[in-house]
Amino acid sequence: MNFTQFPRRPYLNGPTPIESMPSLSKALGGKVNLYIKRDDLLPGAAGGNKTRKLEFCIADAMAQGADTIITCGAVQSNHCRLTAAWSAKEGLDCHLVLEERVEGSYKKEGSGNNFLFELLDVKSIEVVKGGSDMMAEMGKKADELKAQGKKPYIVPGGASNAIGALGYAACAEETMNQLNTEGLSIDHIIVPSGSAGTHAGMVVGISGTNANIPVSGVNVSRTKDVQEELVFKLAVELAEKLGVKGGVERDAFVCFDQYVGPGYSIPTDSMVEAVKLFAKTEAILLDPVYSGKAAAGLIDLVRKGHFAEGANVLFLHTGGSPALFAYMDTFRQ
Ligand SMILES: Cc1ncc(COP(=O)(O)O)c(C=O)c1O
Repeated sequence: MNFTQFPRRPYLNGPTPIESMPSLSKALGGKVNLYIKRDDLLPGAAGGNKTRKLEFCIADAMAQGADTIITCGAVQSNHCRLTAAWSAKEGLDCHLVLEERVEGSYKKEGSGNNFLFELLDVKSIEVVKGGSDMMAEMGKKADELKAQGKKPYIVPGGASNAIGALGYAACAEETMNQLNTEGLSIDHIIVPSGSAGTHAGMVVGISGTNANIPVSGVNVSRTKDVQEELVFKLAVELAEKLGVKGGVERDAFVCFDQYVGPGYSIPTDSMVEAVKLFAKTEAILLDPVYSGKAAAGLIDLVRKGHFAEGANVLFLHTGGSPALFAYMDTFRQ
């Protein structure tokens, strides 16, 4: 795969670590060996997966002469936090459109990522109803800013277009280089599957390196069929953009939707257990909305014997821990 054909800003400090999780593996019965790729330690204010995608999206914006970034997300969006962070660093204005997916969940004085938006100097926050057409809402904002003489660039939700997903194809290649150097053979990779760029990028990147390792996604909102189609569609676009020979097969896209619970961002018992277990066994902080639910999936799959005995399973930690502070009551109950 040749990433040099695309504009890219250098936001990484080299590969993120791959660590073994012996205490968690033991706590789950010692039947499989769990590893973790620490994308929570990526640079950017408080880290997380969007830094990899924004290397390409913000570079594209700058190549087009933009001076302003507009993006969208949920009220505690990590993506919005990191877009605000990298925009600040690049000297670009940042405007956010937040979707109130759970009615009444936006609080101007809220903590977690909400508080960080302010600190990272976003120029405006517009809150719209759950189910709004977010592209249209961002388009309206762009028109408003253009009329003021600005040059806005829209980064879609989660930076999950083919440009942003390049970041996770690059992550797959980085991961394979590390595994080959360390001589570590991984049998299965588990990733959170939300706006789909991370999952699509990992599958395309693994395919582009001929690594032949299954990558499964744990959903945070949608049903299995809907999410698999969404990830597949984006992956086809990405594979074409990158020129991955033979493209990608539909059956390479597998999602688990049993860990979503009542809905996006709504806490579940298994998420709370996963967050506590990772903290007390490995001192690793997950988040309540994405990595916590994905880890709940990982834990249940291990307990159910989904992976062969002795398998090496790699969990992609996509970050998000600032959102923990907006959910303290959930964990104290
Ligand atoms: C911490 C965290 N993990 C995982 C995801 C999901 O990644 P993607 O949207 O690429 O599917 C997100 C998305 O916002 C996130 O913030």
